[in-house]
Amino acid sequence: MKIGIIGSGYVGLVTGACFAHLGHQVLCVDNDVKKIEMLKRGKSPIYEPGLESMLKENIRRKRLSFATKVDRATRQCEILFICVNTPPKMNGEADLSFVENVSREIARNLKDYRLIVEKSTVPVQTGEWIHKTIKQIQASESLFDVASNPEFLREGSAIHDFLNPDRVILGVSNARAEKILRKLYAPLKANLVVTDLKSAEIIKHASNSFLATKISFINAVARVCDATGADINNVALGMGLDPRIGPSFLNAGIGFGGFCFPKDLSAFLRMSERLGVRFDMLKEALTINDEQKKYFIQKIENTIWNLTDKTLAVLGLSFKPNTDDIRYAPAIDIIRELQHEKVKIRAYDPEAMTRAKQELRDVKFCRNAYETVRNADALLLMTEWDEFVDLDYKRIKKLMRHPVLFDGRNALNPAEMRKIGFKYCGIGRG
Ligand code: UGA
Repeated sequence: MKIGIIGSGYVGLVTGACFAHLGHQVLCVDNDVKKIEMLKRGKSPIYEPGLESMLKENIRRKRLSFATKVDRATRQCEILFICVNTPPKMNGEADLSFVENVSREIARNLKDYRLIVEKSTVPVQTGEWIHKTIKQIQASESLFDVASNPEFLREGSAIHDFLNPDRVILGVSNARAEKILRKLYAPLKANLVVTDLKSAEIIKHASNSFLATKISFINAVARVCDATGADINNVALGMGLDPRIGPSFLNAGIGFGGFCFPKDLSAFLRMSERLGVRFDMLKEALTINDEQKKYFIQKIENTIWNLTDKTLAVLGLSFKPNTDDIRYAPAIDIIRELQHEKVKIRAYDPEAMTRAKQELRDVKFCRNAYETVRNADALLLMTEWDEFVDLDYKRIKKLMRHPVLFDGRNALNPAEMRKIGFKYCGIGRG
């Protein structure tokens, strides 16, 4: 099938590359000319394991091409995925102006039937707005349908998630749209869940909000563990074995980040308020997440006393491992907060250094973990990259001025670290 992907950001690129991999003919569009030039050369503008080789392979097989204009995709492709950004506004609502602009451009170029699919994360009723907008410009409803097909890709394992989905949600308003989407996803042999459009939109926001709330819940429990000497890892294990709770997303730490959870939680909260539905649980999940970073800093102060002029070594800057994404990364917020206290920061991340250098000032960026910890008064593990878990901690200890270790992700074994000679502080580990 011929597919147009409008918006070649994170979601658009992974979606486009994977559909091409499944044998479809894909045209990815973006109005960023530089990005499109780079993509034409098979270069990925983002770090995502497996993406660049998949782009190259499908360009070579002539199943994947790139363009800067929406009209070309509208003319050539029977299915058009809207994958543009929906950034947060100051009040937390999703800014849908890019979605609206793309809808208008599609409408102006519509000659034959097209299925328009929203893949960007959008608030409920956006599909109705897209429909209304296109209809105003292009009165004939026989020429198009609007559907919702939210994505559940995690950064760092997006290709795997796309090709092995737990479920594929198809939000449609008629059998014509359903038939096309079923055919499109047929090669995946996935569990297809067909719903109405609005339910599909809510599934996405509710899923992300639920997962984020689960993390805030376990982080609050971790504070209770700290206050009592219990161990959050034991608590999470005992809770997670109940299949109604499940073990995933019960890792306590310095909180969730990334461009999805914080933004989607706020947008879902705003949308609920707008609809007259009180949903303060979401507000609380956001508050706990903000507090968690302060809680970590408080732990550091309680352990090493004055922060002024101390040197802290930070390992991990991205919001989670296997990505170079630092948007809403807890590590970045924590570093900024520590800098207010005149702390000297040395930092290293395997992939996020380039982006972090653009965001942070007065940080000594190092070439590897060992260089980072040299003469440090404490080590802060902020992102649980495998390479940090596998470090030679005996060597690390020797290089530091004071062997104090704050494990912001509970990624290390406290007993082992103490045996080496570290003062170890995790989150909720007594
Ligand atoms: C999230 C969802 O997991 C995806 O299903 C969804 O498609 C995506 O958002 C999106 O809306 O695009 P992602 O933001 O890539 O994916 O990252 P996650 O793996 O979900 O982690 C989010 C944050 O929560 C990270 O900062 C991570 O460190 C933190 N986290 C996760 C915890 O603190 N504890 C946990 O137990 C799990």
